[in-house]
Amino acid sequence: MCGIIGVVGRTDTLETLLQGLSRLEYRGYDSAGVALSGPGTTWRARAAAGTESVAALRAECVDAPRGFRTGLGHTRWATHGAPEALNAHPHLDCSGSVAIIHNGIIENHAEIREDLVGRGHVFTSVTDSEVLAHLIEEARKAGEDLSEAVRTSLLRVRGAFALAVLDATEPDVIVAARRISPLIVGTAPGVSYLASDVPAILDQAKTFYAVEDDQVVRLGPEGFRALDLEGAPVRLRQLSIDWDLETAEKGGFEDFMAKEIAEQPEALRATLLDRHRRDGAISFDEMGVSDEELRAVKRVVLVAAGTSNHAAQVAKYAIERWARVSVEVDISSEYRYRDPIVEVGTLVIGVSQSGETIDTIQATREAKRRGARVLAVTNIVDSSLAREADAVIYTRAGLEVSVASTKAFVAQVAALELFALRLAQLRATMPERDVEALYRGLQAVGAQVERALSRREEVAEVARALFGARDFFYLGRHVGFPTALEGALKLKELTYLHAEGYPAGELKHGPLALIEPGVVVVAVATDPAMHEKILSNLAEVKARGASVVVVATDDDESIAAVADFVLRVPGTEPLFAPMVDIIPLQLFAYLTARALGRNVDRPRNLAKTVTVE
Ligand code: M6R
Repeated sequence: MCGIIGVVGRTDTLETLLQGLSRLEYRGYDSAGVALSGPGTTWRARAAAGTESVAALRAECVDAPRGFRTGLGHTRWATHGAPEALNAHPHLDCSGSVAIIHNGIIENHAEIREDLVGRGHVFTSVTDSEVLAHLIEEARKAGEDLSEAVRTSLLRVRGAFALAVLDATEPDVIVAARRISPLIVGTAPGVSYLASDVPAILDQAKTFYAVEDDQVVRLGPEGFRALDLEGAPVRLRQLSIDWDLETAEKGGFEDFMAKEIAEQPEALRATLLDRHRRDGAISFDEMGVSDEELRAVKRVVLVAAGTSNHAAQVAKYAIERWARVSVEVDISSEYRYRDPIVEVGTLVIGVSQSGETIDTIQATREAKRRGARVLAVTNIVDSSLAREADAVIYTRAGLEVSVASTKAFVAQVAALELFALRLAQLRATMPERDVEALYRGLQAVGAQVERALSRREEVAEVARALFGARDFFYLGRHVGFPTALEGALKLKELTYLHAEGYPAGELKHGPLALIEPGVVVVAVATDPAMHEKILSNLAEVKARGASVVVVATDDDESIAAVADFVLRVPGTEPLFAPMVDIIPLQLFAYLTARALGRNVDRPRNLAKTVTVE
């Protein structure tokens, strides 16, 4: 996710911006830029040098004008357009006076751009964000002051934004606005700040305020004024922030894992934004495989490791159900050593949060060598996997720091299920109204995840009650099975306790011999179609003395008969359930690990990205 900083009222504006951008580097980024405004002039510098971009930007700033009191800085995490300097922010309008920085996605950018180009505007990037600079330019030409121009321009856009704008014809002013993407304002005597994240301005501002959705703020050296999108004045909520830098980087959470677990609704929303055209077609701007090629797909093979493999296993059920294409899922480290068959019409999908997992890269290389078309589903723009694949879909989960993957999983499932719906549309395997209903259902999952997250205390109670247990079996059927695998992986990697995931029906074919008093069985039982069968599997383990924990929907009244502990989740479409059901399992693993005193962000023996075979 992009990082934003703005300052108005200082004489050392540039240095304040560069230091703030350095403090945003921990979030991950691929390019950076600044703009300064003084009377009649806007000056801009940008650099795209991966994680060295802020250092490269500093070198670009040697000729910066001195004494300009108003400035914006941005670190970019590419979504639309490659991570190149021309796509880095700030973006300018045609006159070069208006500069904007933006975090989020403008969903209707294509239609706005077409309209603006028709009116003579010249675009210099391929980003969705640049339309904002030209929309504001139009409003300024119509005589609106900067805050009015920002407000009226935003009435035309759909999507998510944390936006900040300056204009040399109105110096000593920044106008900022927010919808979905986070934005805060800070003040100190004679200076106002804004930022996407507290660390950027932690050591500068004295007082902090939250900008809420659809609010526009005009900042000057003397303070700020806020309006809603209708133009009515609003008051910003003051925040109490007494954090050190480390706590601020973790967004006030105890560790990165807690922060990333909490970020899952946002990761889902960002991944699903801007994927639906006006004609109802699901579309992936960045994908790069034609509709004809997708229609011709005869077989899909998903290759992935760890958590990404579990997301791929969920996708198998969705692609087969909705698009009626046969799907295989392979562990990426196994794929290339089994002499895989690649026939005409085979689409191989490499799924990887980092896009750098060597096993997955090698598997997709092997598939390509044998003639497959390769699609990458990854979180990192221009990662090795993305570069080598024929096509790419980006999850937009933002940087994941904690070794244990959490938000990447829900974002991968969402992106792959959206892809499954696109395949279904192209192959006409479902009525259009069913696709539309599923698409709407997918949009609602973020809110269901939020509700599941709000039940942390209930999960904590179960974790406390089971503290001391050493053996865990996670069971599920259908997509509950990969969810169980993922729950077990979270527990073992975070706590170092023994945890195994099994298809619930497989238990009686061997593992049942291990069930005895003291063993904990965690079952995912949210799918009504699987419910009865799971209940009888649980009766078997309960009869042998295991403690039974069940992830069950809010309306499930029969579960209490077999469960010692119930982890309640909101019900959803069964194929979407893994994104919701995984939440209590992540929290259970996390809370147990903390109680055991484990380093949850860096479990022993593990690396975030595995680049050796
Ligand atoms: O970056 P990738 O998604 O390719 O990484 C795959 C696995 O290494 C990763 O999911 C790993 O299993 C995590 N530690 C799980 O939490």
